[in-house]
Order: sequence, then structure tokens, then C-alpha cells
Amino acid sequence: MKGPSIEVANLTKRFGRVDAVTDLTFTVRSGRVTGFLGPNGAGKSTTLRMLLGLTRPDRGTALFGRVAYPDLPDPTGTVGAVLDIASAHPATTARDHLRTFCALGGHRMSRVGEVIATVALDRFADRRVGGYSTGMRQRLALATALLGEPEVLVLDEPSNGLDPVGIVWLRGFLREFTDSGGTVLISSHALGELQQSIDDVVLIDHGRLVWTGALDTLTASGDTLEEAFLRLTTREQAA
Ligand SMILES: Nc1ncnc2c1ncn2[C@@H]1O[C@H](COP(=O)(O)OP(=O)(O)OP(=O)(O)O)[C@@H](O)[C@H]1O
Ligand SMILES: [Mg+2]
Repeated sequence: MKGPSIEVANLTKRFGRVDAVTDLTFTVRSGRVTGFLGPNGAGKSTTLRMLLGLTRPDRGTALFGRVAYPDLPDPTGTVGAVLDIASAHPATTARDHLRTFCALGGHRMSRVGEVIATVALDRFADRRVGGYSTGMRQRLALATALLGEPEVLVLDEPSNGLDPVGIVWLRGFLREFTDSGGTVLISSHALGELQQSIDDVVLIDHGRLVWTGALDTLTASGDTLEEAFLRLTTREQAA
């Protein structure tokens, strides 16, 4: 498998008087894990929502290969997304939630058991989601994203609430996923963890691109990812 790249061009979104994302252009390469970084309010979630057709851009495009998400022939079989972990109904079990989404996506029902095993949710799969911890919800959201065996993963802070075992597992999982040709775009504030997980960086601030390229290039001077992030995003505080 070789997953499509993600091509973002001139993406722009304003909410009232807030310029959430302005003229944002970057590429996410297949076979690589790309970290999507920026301070709180930088515009990461807004960008990811525009990628998935959930927020309509004022201007610009986001394409998987050459196709916008809403025009993909098999969207959930192409792109798996974790954007909002609170989406499962509290009264349903994880297994029932996955069955529903499996049916909606037109995927084979045996995927439900497979993704439960993949994210190690077996022990909790028949409990109501209302009683889930944050980490369990994250695992369920990831399991839902994997139902269609996608070639691209778009993940908004997926390690939030994961325990150390879960974080190590996620790192290994993403590496295997990209080793087999998949494409990953992942936002996170856990820079120490991210430094061990990503190949490329897209750094934004105030809705605009600040830096993009290989992690190795960004940290070539001996900076950690955290030091590079602070150097590139705290100019007004430092002034
Ligand atoms: N639906 C909305 N209506 C109005 N303003 C919004 C909406 N969604 C986002 N914003 C604003 O757009 C800006 C970017 O928000 P966004 O959630 O994309 O940031 P983020 O980089 O994901 O931040 P965080 O790291 O805190 O998750 C913020 O100023 C936010 O208040
Ligand atoms: Mg966000």
C-alpha cells in the first residue's frame, strides 16, 4: 500500500473577527508521520476539520491525493480520523458503537473484533461508553478510525489521556502504519513524546505557517523539538 499524500493549499478560515487559519499551505508525505504543532488556538483543529470537510474553508483546498475528502469514493476506507473523542453515545457499548460505524462505512463486520484487539480495548468493549476513562475513549476513537483499514490517519491529540503503555503502543502502531506506506498527520502538545514519533513537522502560529520540513532539519543545531517550538512561537512574549 502507498497512501495518498495530503496537499493543503492556501487554506483560510475566519470566524467572525477571528482569523483562525490564514493562507496555510503544506504537504504531508506518504510513508511519514507528520507532527502538526502550534500553541493553543493556533488553528490546528480548525485545519484538521477543514481537511475532513467538517468546517468549510473561506478559501483554499485540502486534497488526499488529488481528491477532497467529501469527494472520495470510499472516505472512511481512505482516511481514518480522530477529531472528537466524545462522539460515542454514553449509553452504548464500544462494540455496538463500532458495529454501527462499521455498517455505516460499509466495512466487513469482522473488522469490529479486529480493531478492538488492535487498540487493546477487549476488556472494556462490552461496557457502556458513559463510564469510560479518557484513555478508553481515545482507544475507542482510534478503533473507529481504523474500521475501514484507511491509508491515511488524521489524529487530533490522540495521546491525550493515554497511559504510558498506550503511548508506547501508539508510537509503534504509527511507525508500522507508515512503514507499510500509510500517511499520518498528528497534532499534539506532548513534544517530548512527539520527538520520538514523527518524521516531519508542520508548525503553525496565529493560523499561519511558521515552519515545515524534516524533524532532523529542525533539530540539527542540537535543539530539542520543545526548544525549537519555543524559539519559533514565543517571539512576542520574548520581545
Ligand atoms: N466554531 C468556532 N467559532 C468561533 N471561533 C472558533 C471556532 N472554532 C475555532 N475558533 C477559534 O479559532 C482559533 C483556532 O482554534 P483551534 O481550535 O483551531 O486551535 P488549536 O490549534 O486546535 O488549539 P488547541 O491547541 O488549544 O487545541 C481560536 O481562536 C478559536 O477560538
Ligand atoms: Mg485543537
